[in-house]
Amino acid sequence: MLKTHTCGELNRQHIGERVTLAGWLHRRRDHGGLIFIDLRDRFGIAQITVGSESADVVRETAAQARSEYVLQVSGLVQARPAGFENPNLSTGEIEVIADAITILNPAKTPPFYISGAADDVDESLRLKYRYLDLRRPRMTQNLILRHTIVRFIREFFSDRDFIEIETPILLKSTPEGARDFVVPSRLHPHEFYALPQSPQQLKQLLMVAGIERYFQIARCFRDEDLRSDRQPEFTQLDLEMSFVEEADIRALIEGMLIELCASLNAKPIQQVPFPLITYADALEKYGIDRPDLRFGQQLFNLTKAVSASNFAVFKNAVAVGGEVKGVVYPGGANLARRELDELTEFVKQYGAKGLVWIGVTGSPAADGTYSAEALRSQVTKFLAPEEIQQIVALSGAQTGDLILIVADKSSVVAQSLSNLRLEIGRRANLVDTSVLAFCWVTDFPLLEYNDEAQRWQAVHHPFTSARDEDWAKLESDPGAVLAKAYDVIMNGWEVGGGSIRIHRSDLQDRLFARLGLVKEEVQAQFGHLLEAFQYGAPPHGGIALGIDRLVALFAEATSIREVIAFPKTAAGTDLMVDAPSPVTEAQLKELHIALRESKTKEK
Ligand code: AMO
Ligand code: AMP
Repeated sequence: MLKTHTCGELNRQHIGERVTLAGWLHRRRDHGGLIFIDLRDRFGIAQITVGSESADVVRETAAQARSEYVLQVSGLVQARPAGFENPNLSTGEIEVIADAITILNPAKTPPFYISGAADDVDESLRLKYRYLDLRRPRMTQNLILRHTIVRFIREFFSDRDFIEIETPILLKSTPEGARDFVVPSRLHPHEFYALPQSPQQLKQLLMVAGIERYFQIARCFRDEDLRSDRQPEFTQLDLEMSFVEEADIRALIEGMLIELCASLNAKPIQQVPFPLITYADALEKYGIDRPDLRFGQQLFNLTKAVSASNFAVFKNAVAVGGEVKGVVYPGGANLARRELDELTEFVKQYGAKGLVWIGVTGSPAADGTYSAEALRSQVTKFLAPEEIQQIVALSGAQTGDLILIVADKSSVVAQSLSNLRLEIGRRANLVDTSVLAFCWVTDFPLLEYNDEAQRWQAVHHPFTSARDEDWAKLESDPGAVLAKAYDVIMNGWEVGGGSIRIHRSDLQDRLFARLGLVKEEVQAQFGHLLEAFQYGAPPHGGIALGIDRLVALFAEATSIREVIAFPKTAAGTDLMVDAPSPVTEAQLKELHIALRESKTKEK
């Protein structure tokens, strides 16, 4: 080894030892006669001191060295002089008095300071020079945390008789609701592999194979619109079990997450056992199926109360089967007009036509009604006093609070208010960041109607089983069929989802028919699965957890890009290696591919 110790491990106990360190020049402070070098390796930072007693050649080398030079340094570990200790550094009590320095490799001036905060650096620059970005201690810590979590998971499931099995990457379309990435076949002209959106069908086939307990740290590929919590390739803890019911999978995963939190010394879990919330309840109270339970501000529903209102905004929404719902902004009664306008613009992003605001500035009179002076609103003139009184009562608002209401079709109300609730949480500082809030969302509908495609589609995926008693409604009332599906939510992020599967080919066939797939399509896409189900498929179910999301949450990162070594940009590109990129004419020829003229050549 070119080093005897790591930069991070030195402490008082090493005083008097001669050590050799190797790493990168993190910072250098030149005080003329005295040069301090912060030498960094993966394990930490040690201060190297080059003083007047050092040989000329050592002083000269130290003076030449620049940021990110790779150095090897030997010297004696000493206690720092009293008053010069650095309590923020594990090695802050000692320094290494250099008696030899070798420049192992010089470095160009990096495009950004490794020692600086990432937030000051443009993300595209960080991604282009990702190998430098990853040198920053916080990014290194994120990668280490990821490793720790994956290692915990491997041990947890291995200890419980699960076996890790690799499934192919070059495969066939595995529908999870996104577009496939396809790979042309050279040996089979005009045919393509598809990269798996998840190992869903393979893990089910492993259950038919009698494996009973499978897991995999699986790479998945989905060509979909990217966001801060979505990447085109990402990693799942994928898992499947035979002879289980919903509650078994939930208990297993809940136990794993609780132990994981403990082993990471994470923040306390808000509520154990994790609360169970039905999909319908989550939508009613939070407008979304992944509620952030670290604060309250549940939505209130005025639809019934205002059904006879003369206020056009309410009346029109109710008349077309829409909803009138709202959320309270605590202490917001006297928000500046500018802020009210901002909130109105905020909900308009989600399709709302406007935002009704009622500030409860004063107290009600003895009879419970509010005088004009006790309220502040742009719509009091449209609403009868009893109506306002009822709205205030249903909202639960107290004096000093602001009531915010959206009237529209249900999907717009849900979208705008779920996001408005989060925005209020941020603005009014309501989020309890001292806890981790987990919950399970259950009782999902099996199917949803896709207006565009004019057909029913699976909410989870088409292998999810309906509740036993609901199969009878599959043809007559598909929207009312509930699924044996569950999602696990952490701080408002969907970290996992799974279900009990269909294991009978007749039921699977019926569901495919309900989804509008014709016999030939079913045979071509899923023939292998239907056939397998005829050879003794056990009842089975499973779940997949998004590793990237889980790690990002524990790292308190705002984007999963922070916990992936080499992530893609929001446009799906890799700025470091410049992918995707054209291939040669020879490669295309081998693959039997001729390119079409593209209208817009983006770059
Ligand atoms: P699902 O599609 O819900 O289920 O995915 C499971 C979990 O994977 C994570 N995830 C993602 N993470 C980053 N980028 C993405 N693009 C992305 N898409 C999903 C989420 C999600 O909860 N086969 C089923 C699982 C099953 O039924 O067992 C599946 O893939 O955290
Ligand atoms: P209008 O009658 O369109 O001028 O709207 C009166 C007030 O109601 C405005 O302040 C709008 O922001 C608000 N508003 C309009 N449409 C809606 C709606 N669908 N939901 C909530 N508020 C609305």
